[in-house]
Amino acid sequence: MKSQILHILEKNNRVISGDTIGAALGISRVSVWKHIRELQESDYKIIVTSKGYQLVDTTDTPFPWEISGRESKVHYFPELGSTMDIAREMARKGCPHFTVVVAGRQTRGRGRLKREWCSLEGGLYFTLVLRPKISPIFSARLIFCASLTLAHLLNKRFSVPAQVKWPNDILVRGRKISGMLSEMEAEGDRVTFVNIGIGINVNNDLSFQADRAISLREILKKSVSRKELLSMFLDAFENRVEQKNLDHVVSEWKQYTTTLNRKIRIVTQDEVSEGLAKDVDENGTLILELADGSVKKIVHGDCFHLG
Ligand code: BTN
Repeated sequence: MKSQILHILEKNNRVISGDTIGAALGISRVSVWKHIRELQESDYKIIVTSKGYQLVDTTDTPFPWEISGRESKVHYFPELGSTMDIAREMARKGCPHFTVVVAGRQTRGRGRLKREWCSLEGGLYFTLVLRPKISPIFSARLIFCASLTLAHLLNKRFSVPAQVKWPNDILVRGRKISGMLSEMEAEGDRVTFVNIGIGINVNNDLSFQADRAISLREILKKSVSRKELLSMFLDAFENRVEQKNLDHVVSEWKQYTTTLNRKIRIVTQDEVSEGLAKDVDENGTLILELADGSVKKIVHGDCFHLG
């Protein structure tokens, strides 16, 4: 309902009465008023006159009603510990495929390998709950599909030269703009859910960070709408996941990667390996050629480009 009220207000761009809005949507004037009040409380600037309502300014918060066609599956929280925790709880309780948990900021944002993910206001932080009908051995293809989708979107829609560092970091001119992690639960040979958590530096301030992360705002020299970026990403990702089979995801992903044929260091919880990144197989496993010519297959780890 809120998205429809906003649509009417945006389309008319003048004062419009509660009766007119109510008649168009088949709801009472009082119900219109209640929605308007909630929108005002959510930071929409709507002026109220004796003749009705006028929208004068909107907000960039990714509220569910702003994500077209996904109102019932998007859950927005101004502040959370981590979207991963809420998404896991919801997935275990049976939430539907393509549920999205979004936070305005996170107080305990998680990165891969137990790192912290700095999640200040202005960035985009969300976890997607997926219930793919695939065997657990293919589940990694989904996160490769997510990084491929985001790299493609940044290149094609924003003209930002985004590349992917194995496994799923998105870099622009060598600096990190987005990171992803996933969690899976399965019963036997059936995936119950795969949750993909994505953090994108959109308009958040990174100036105090020691590592060389970068935001879309810094690259484009203007703020970018988080709600539009989220909508675009979800539409493009859903399209790939539902329309195509995932057999060729990694080969498409390779078109965007900057890791192959480079000297790299891989750090896992237990060991450090260095060598040449020879290939990534169709399930995302990295094939590393070591100095003695032998080959090592790496499924998880942190990757550092050495040259
Ligand atoms: C990484 O590069 O180390 C992965 C970063 C993943 C961050 C996202 S933000 C949304 C979701 N919630 C979290 O706590 N982490 C992921």
